[in-house]
Amino acid sequence: MLHLDTSKISGAVSATELQALQGKATDALRALHAGSGKGSDFLGWLNLPTSISAAEVADIKATAAKLSAGVDVVVVIGIGGSYLGAKAAIDALLHSFDALQDKSRRTSPLVLFAGQNIGEDYLFELMETLQGKSVSCIVISKSGTTTEPALAFRLIKNFVEQTCGKDEAKNRIVAITDKSRGALRTMADKEGYKTFVIPDNIGGRFSVLTPVGLLPIACAGVDVAALVQGAAEMEKSTAQDVPFEKNLSAQYAAARNALYAKGKKVEVLANFNPKLHFVAEWWKQLYGESEGKDGKGIFPASVDFTTDLHSLGQYVQDGERMLFETVLSVAKAKRCVTVPLDKEDLDGLNFLAGKRVDEVNRMAELGTQLAHVDGGVPNIRIELSDLSEHTLGELIYFFEKACGISGYMLGVNPFDQPGVEAYKKNMFALLEKPGYEKETAAIKDRIKN
Ligand code: PA5
Repeated sequence: MLHLDTSKISGAVSATELQALQGKATDALRALHAGSGKGSDFLGWLNLPTSISAAEVADIKATAAKLSAGVDVVVVIGIGGSYLGAKAAIDALLHSFDALQDKSRRTSPLVLFAGQNIGEDYLFELMETLQGKSVSCIVISKSGTTTEPALAFRLIKNFVEQTCGKDEAKNRIVAITDKSRGALRTMADKEGYKTFVIPDNIGGRFSVLTPVGLLPIACAGVDVAALVQGAAEMEKSTAQDVPFEKNLSAQYAAARNALYAKGKKVEVLANFNPKLHFVAEWWKQLYGESEGKDGKGIFPASVDFTTDLHSLGQYVQDGERMLFETVLSVAKAKRCVTVPLDKEDLDGLNFLAGKRVDEVNRMAELGTQLAHVDGGVPNIRIELSDLSEHTLGELIYFFEKACGISGYMLGVNPFDQPGVEAYKKNMFALLEKPGYEKETAAIKDRIKN
């Protein structure tokens, strides 16, 4: 079970101040479950883990097996909520050098991502890498109209059709999108692709436990049933009848809101395990899009320690005191590396000889926590017993639930994202997309002046 420690925020928030927020957190939790808060038509994620059926998991696994059979690479196309959850889980759970594993040792295809940027070099190099390889594709877009994945899919679709023929391409492409709306739905129906539906009541950033996340994760060889099981356990232990004292999501939401009220406007999610880099990226979308609105919200940032202690460490220790740190800690490493003894000890490291590298890392973590708390950075600590499908599932649901509670405590609608549209309107106007003629004229005037 995940462990949460909020005791090290006491330098900024008193026990009485934190206690004052318990009622607010409990009200927010109840509003979520009652469906009485803002954006309540987007609560499909709330009871999702316990309601995913064995048949749904079996369908996902069977589809993954079909997409993977005899294939070198599965290209997963999507952006934002249609990308980050799968990327986070795959990076957290797979071998760090998966891409370099010998082909004969692979039990699953390599999963590569596209459509998460508009980098011409990225796309060129991806297409170059795919040459001579057997490729299948999962294309994901809830709206079905997002430019980045649409553009990447046009390239990958052409590639798959040219390399294995249009008929076989139908077996190699799966689309995950809205049940009836959007260009991707129209195309999937016309081309005869297998599809999965993203439920109307689940927003992109809450969709990792739908086929959006589960299908790519299954293609990478990860046990999706165990991931869902971990999430289901966290769903039960953060339910509305679980009191604040035992409800970890409510406690985390209360702690971060208490810190925000004290002027701590930036939350830095810190990990001491490079496999968690993309968990933090997923978390940033979850919290940034959910809370950053109406001129309010904690800015979600992230660091990979100890790497970033050698770049951002100075600021965290000593810069402007508007930060708090949430450390994502893994109690034990999966693999074992001990520091070897060296007869000459020219590097002076023999004091570490025989120790696990993980022990060195844990001392770095403890030392950092003490230093940062001394430096006026309140510290929240989330500990996973290990890094597995089960604990990652717990963590995903823990953060989602806390996000809903926290957004309600802040007084915003945590389930919309009106701000995401602003850049798109300008980009379409600048690219002279049909239907944007008025905006094109206006933006050209604006640039001229
Ligand atoms: O949270 C959101 O809705 C967005 O950031 C989306 O995740 C992102 O724009 C991708 O959207 P779509 O899945 O519709 O292509």
